[in-house]
Amino acid sequence: MKRVLITGAMSGIGLASTVLFLERGWVVFMADKEEKTDILETLKEQYGEKIFFVKTDVSKDKDVKHLHSKVQELIYGIDCVINNAGIIAHGLLHEAPEKDWDDLMSNDVKSIYLTSKYFIPELIQNGHGTIVNTASISGIAGDYEMPIYNAAKGAVVNLTRAMALDYAKFNIRVNSVCPSAVDTNMLNPDNIPKYACVNPLKRICAPIEVAKVIYFLASEESSYCNGVNLPVTGGLDVHTGQPE
Ligand SMILES: NC(=O)c1ccc[n+]([C@@H]2O[C@H](COP(=O)([O-])OP(=O)(O)OC[C@H]3O[C@@H](n4cnc5c(N)ncnc54)[C@H](O)[C@@H]3O)[C@@H](O)[C@H]2O)c1
Repeated sequence: MKRVLITGAMSGIGLASTVLFLERGWVVFMADKEEKTDILETLKEQYGEKIFFVKTDVSKDKDVKHLHSKVQELIYGIDCVINNAGIIAHGLLHEAPEKDWDDLMSNDVKSIYLTSKYFIPELIQNGHGTIVNTASISGIAGDYEMPIYNAAKGAVVNLTRAMALDYAKFNIRVNSVCPSAVDTNMLNPDNIPKYACVNPLKRICAPIEVAKVIYFLASEESSYCNGVNLPVTGGLDVHTGQPE
């Protein structure tokens, strides 16, 4: 039975991925800085011994070290890491508080360094593994008034390529998903119609539609994909901006 660690698993894309991996028979270890007991109880009722959770701030070394020790203790290791936790910040760069810069880089980028530090040695030892990072279309192209998010997700995109090259010789594949607007808590609901009308599919993405691509990249179905930053955008990223 395969085991996956999913960060940012209590909400949105991470929660949809948790349920999908469980449905497909994997053991899921959820990590999130928020603990939602109602969600956990429902998952435990349905999936019993296959679901685990440790409250973790993945931007903090001591938390990820603790998470690693709990994973070893409770499920004896991991086959796949989904680096999905993330936050967002809005505003012009020159007006942004320094905290926004530090928080975004810690939550979205340093977190991948920290899970790598603690979990990749075991994947190397096992001689196999997959890692999927949740990047964004915002790591491939720019947004209006989201420069720090763009910088952080751009870093995740190129980190994915670098990790893919370095760990291929250990039979560890590293890929990312790059979604456009997804219907989660991260998105301001007032903006959903605006995002929908500029998308070729005329709707925004559902969390499960990203989860399915994450699952594909995590599983053997994508056994020759490595270093791919896969757009999940309904075609938005291939548009020149030409009006219809
Ligand atoms: N929603 C979108 O439009 C969209 C588009 C592209 C990419 N993404 C990316 O998808 C990922 C998931 O976001 P979502 O849309 O599901 O949002 P969400 O807010 O619903 O979920 C994010 C989860 O990450 C957790 N989290 C944040 N920082 C953390 C930390 N330091 N330690 C542990 N947990 C932490 C939050 O508690 C939350 O449960 C993020 O990386 C986000 O940047 C989202």
